Amino acid sequence: MADLDDIRDGDNFGLNTPADTSAFYLKGMRNASWGIKNRMSRIFNKDSGRTVMLAFDHGFLMGPTSGLERIDLNIAPLAEEADCLMGCRGMIRSSIPAENSKPICLRTDTGTTILTEMNHNVLISEEDAIRLNVSCMAAMLSVGDADTEATTIANFSRLVDIGQKYDIPVMGVTAVGKDMARDSRYFGLASRVCAENGASIVKTYYTEGFENVVAACPVPIVIAGGKKLPELDALDLCYKAINCGASGVDMGRNVFQSAKPLAMMKAVKGVVHDGLTPAEGFQMFNDL
Ligand code: R5P
Repeated sequence: MADLDDIRDGDNFGLNTPADTSAFYLKGMRNASWGIKNRMSRIFNKDSGRTVMLAFDHGFLMGPTSGLERIDLNIAPLAEEADCLMGCRGMIRSSIPAENSKPICLRTDTGTTILTEMNHNVLISEEDAIRLNVSCMAAMLSVGDADTEATTIANFSRLVDIGQKYDIPVMGVTAVGKDMARDSRYFGLASRVCAENGASIVKTYYTEGFENVVAACPVPIVIAGGKKLPELDALDLCYKAINCGASGVDMGRNVFQSAKPLAMMKAVKGVVHDGLTPAEGFQMFNDL
């Protein structure tokens, strides 16, 4: 029992300072639990409200694709510049130092490498996500794909149930199969389906009319970078997405396949967080 001697009455109640009841700083999160908000705050910068996630989950489908041959050599050194690291459990355990303090977005679904059968997802166990101390769990939704949509939505719903149980946000990754349209109508549908099914973050692709995709999605949207582009074009993509209301990027190849990945990370951060134009970001890239 605590020592009862000299109990002092409180006299600092801040009576002239009302309790802060303002809304949480991220879109759609006002009614989320403390744990979800806390984890979202680790991912999204509190000043800009945005994030630069570094995606390196490609290997489970593509193998040791260019830039991901050695996660320990190519990705781990970029971690300090990322707001969040997105990868699969095997690569995080084997190749990201446990001293890492950046939030982890864990790719929780695994599919086959056979593209025609891709994304008959299998989810990993929640225990393993918790063991990895993740701040977010990600899984793909193949919206509009007759063969895989039902499976991926069922998996995704299960993942959201797990996320709600342990207060871990879930990121919906919109799929782009080879036969799927890549326009704002499709990405608007796919993003909305992710949000309707309980995603706290949606990852999709920038397209013409993206402002409508963002407006109709009630939670933060981040864009994937897609295939490697010249650096100025990739920065332009980030700039356009942010201007349309995106809350950041979850970018892979345009960073780790760049001739100067660290410089590219910094330039992307300049555009996403600091309002640099693509030309200013490119200048930064060239100067580094
Ligand atoms: C897609 O399913 C993967 O999750 C990638 O992480 C995503 O496409 C982002 O990587 P990239 O910028 O290379 O497209």
